[in-house]
Amino acid sequence: MDFSPLWNFLWSITEFFYRLAMTLEAVLASVHLLAILTLVVFLSSQAALCRMEWMNAAVVQRLARLDMIYGIVAVVLLLTGLARLFWGVKGMGGYMASPLFHLKMSLFILAALLSIKPTLSFRRWRKALDASGQLPAAEEVAQTRKWVMWQAHVVPVIAVVAIFWARGM
Ligand code: HEM
Repeated sequence: MDFSPLWNFLWSITEFFYRLAMTLEAVLASVHLLAILTLVVFLSSQAALCRMEWMNAAVVQRLARLDMIYGIVAVVLLLTGLARLFWGVKGMGGYMASPLFHLKMSLFILAALLSIKPTLSFRRWRKALDASGQLPAAEEVAQTRKWVMWQAHVVPVIAVVAIFWARGM
């Protein structure tokens, strides 16, 4: 009996699902990378603008808007990361067994916590501006900038940890 048509059929099905899994992996990896790059752009813009030298009404409005987009991108980053964890070709077990995974998640939470103070400040500044045209005090701008800069230093560390983690270290 000739089994080759059945064999060919099974082979095509296997190949189809393999390609599907690899395409999903590539799409998720691309969106994760795009989210990382976008996050860095919006964080850098905050760092560049949050200085007393540049402070004016337009900058206060811009900082609040940048921060809102930054928050949305952070959520996209988290969701694509989770999707890679659950649906990625490597499987969740191996990822979670690594201490670097826990380090990466802890740093991500740290970055999220560091972003709270700037978010509250930017919103308060915009409210004060809308209500009375008042600009933030120099000391407050300097303080807020420090929190933004801490985040800007934590995010690259997360990326480096991710690279080692992705290689099974
Ligand atoms: C600021 C936050 C984050 C940064 C900078 C970051 C960075 C990276 C980088 C650079 C890679 C590629 C590693 C490589 O293939 O060499 C990666 C992969 C990955 N990330 Fe993230 N990530 C972040 C947040 C997250 C979060 C919150 C999760 C999960 C909840 C996550 C889950 C993953 C997964 C599952 C991979 C795939 C690893 C692999 O290819 O084996 N990431 N991340």
